[in-house]
Amino acid sequence: MKIINASWVITCDENSTIIKNGAVVYDNKIIDIGPKDFIEKKYPDIEIISLKENSALMPGLINSHVHLEFSSNSTTLKYGNFMNWLNSVISFRDQLVEKATTKFISQKLLKMQKTGTTTIGAISSYSYDMDACIKSPINTVFFTEVIGSKPDMVDTLFTDFKSRLDNAKKSRSASFIPAIAIHSPYSVHPFLLRETLRLACEEKLAVSSHFLESPEEFEWLHKDEGSFLDFFKNFLGQEKAVTKPMEFLNQFKNVDNLSFTHCVEASENDLDKIKELGATINHCVTSNRLLNNSKLDLDKLKTIPFSIGTDGLSSNNSLSMFDELRNCLMAHFDKNVIDFSKVLLKAATKNGSIALGLNKGELTKDKDADMISLILPNEVEDEEDLCMNVILHTKFVDSSIIGGKNV
Ligand code: BEZ
Ligand code: FE2
Repeated sequence: MKIINASWVITCDENSTIIKNGAVVYDNKIIDIGPKDFIEKKYPDIEIISLKENSALMPGLINSHVHLEFSSNSTTLKYGNFMNWLNSVISFRDQLVEKATTKFISQKLLKMQKTGTTTIGAISSYSYDMDACIKSPINTVFFTEVIGSKPDMVDTLFTDFKSRLDNAKKSRSASFIPAIAIHSPYSVHPFLLRETLRLACEEKLAVSSHFLESPEEFEWLHKDEGSFLDFFKNFLGQEKAVTKPMEFLNQFKNVDNLSFTHCVEASENDLDKIKELGATINHCVTSNRLLNNSKLDLDKLKTIPFSIGTDGLSSNNSLSMFDELRNCLMAHFDKNVIDFSKVLLKAATKNGSIALGLNKGELTKDKDADMISLILPNEVEDEEDLCMNVILHTKFVDSSIIGGKNV
């Protein structure tokens, strides 16, 4: 058991409580939290870690949606249009994935750790990222992904999926948690959807799916029209979408820990259904911008929680959550910068934990002791401005604690 104290403790709890000169008592879980003087009197004779002047201590950041296998992309893929991007992914994916060795992905994970990430939701298309995730101190919810809409391929694809999922299950630990990703409503055959979701329900695995990322996807799913029509005709010999959006959502009824990524073209009905399903929306604002998709209308979410994902380097120039948070703060320019910063820190911690079905993301009693500390460049005059200044000024963290251990 240890005490860590900081100039500021940002709890990211329900009330966005901030404690000036605060302290946290922890082992692998948070034991107590309060003002420094009070905590140090209450727990005499235990080790005290005192962070520097202008320090802030907060829950580790949770990147709820990332594709590590595409980490070798920087200048290869085409941005600016969803179809052009998708075609470029199909042309270059083998080349990109081949370069993303365990060593290469481990370097990216280390950089993510240094920039404040303590937990990721890793979408794995091939399981080539599994060893790097297992070796990293970062907690991983490892989403084995299923993809494939061609009827004559579904059996083979399901067998391959089950074998990858079984492999992930063999490495299950407190910091490596197997889960299931459905690629999207347009790319997954109803048989694969039904059978993978059956497994998810039986085995209580978290599930995540991309959903309505682009206008092209909307047109194809609703009307079997638009640029996806040519793509599907040429590529897969198909003229009709395999599922309508609402049919797709209705399949997810008994999933406990569920998230949908993007949802920028989701209708009000879709959002009502997402709410009813108890799902979280992974908001990936940089990815949406780079592919010239639209921006998630956060006001339309009402009470649906949203979390923050970088997506992969296939549609982002950074896997740093602080970079992503800054982008998100700038992109939603209709929101008050001070208030929205508080919302964003909660989205990147508490809501990420909800999306992934974890017991993290808040500095409150009994949550996992995953914490980051950072040093602000100067004194923060008004507590009200703290979250905004944390987002504006943090490039690298000062220290990270995962499961109570310094990493
Ligand atoms: C498919 O296998 O059906 C598919 C894969 C990638 C994009 C779209 C469809
Ligand atoms: Fe994605």
